[in-house]
Amino acid sequence: MTISFSPILNQNDQFTQMAGIHRQLFDVAWSAASIAAMFEPKTAYRGSLVLDDDKIIGFIICSIVLDEAEIISMAIEKAFQQNGYGRLLLAYEIETLNKLAVKRLFLEVSEHNSAAQKLYTSMGFQRLAKRNNYYKQPDGTFADALVLSCDL
Ligand SMILES: CC(C)(COP(=O)(O)OP(=O)(O)OC[C@H]1O[C@@H](n2cnc3c(N)ncnc32)[C@H](O)[C@@H]1OP(=O)(O)O)[C@@H](O)C(=O)NCCC(=O)NCCS
Repeated sequence: MTISFSPILNQNDQFTQMAGIHRQLFDVAWSAASIAAMFEPKTAYRGSLVLDDDKIIGFIICSIVLDEAEIISMAIEKAFQQNGYGRLLLAYEIETLNKLAVKRLFLEVSEHNSAAQKLYTSMGFQRLAKRNNYYKQPDGTFADALVLSCDL
């Protein structure tokens, strides 16, 4: 088992694996095609992967506009969670964003997602705002989104 980090490349095999992880962890699954569309040439999206040998076990996708970026999605496959890979992946992505002259990183996280909130606040993110009833939940109710940001 060798863990490594790499940028997301424009490769269908990567998008298929990322869609599999997304389906496992989010209520509204993204297809491989919808992820592929983000990475077509000249879009504002980029991102990074964490791999166990050749297998993708986590990903982060960001969009960049001028010197600001937003985390669009981040996930670590269930079987590999709570081993520090999420923290390492976010640090790897931040290092890359720094090289791209990004100065500020934003994200939205559900008020109920305490695991992700702990990860982000422990890495310097601070609460900026709250979007009421932002996420529709499987039971039909709505959850607020917390908007967090971090100066890079
Ligand atoms: C959020 C997520 C990416 C974290 O990845 P991970 O590899 O498990 O995280 P790490 O092992 O690097 O943990 C980093 C910190 O996050 C927090 N954390 C992670 N999982 C946690 C859990 N189940 N409960 C409480 N805190 C948790 C802890 O503060 C942890 O630091 P510590 O171990 O020093 O206490 C992962 O749980 C995930 O994929 N969740 C589902 C998708 C998701 O919610 N994405 C974020 C949407 S905004």
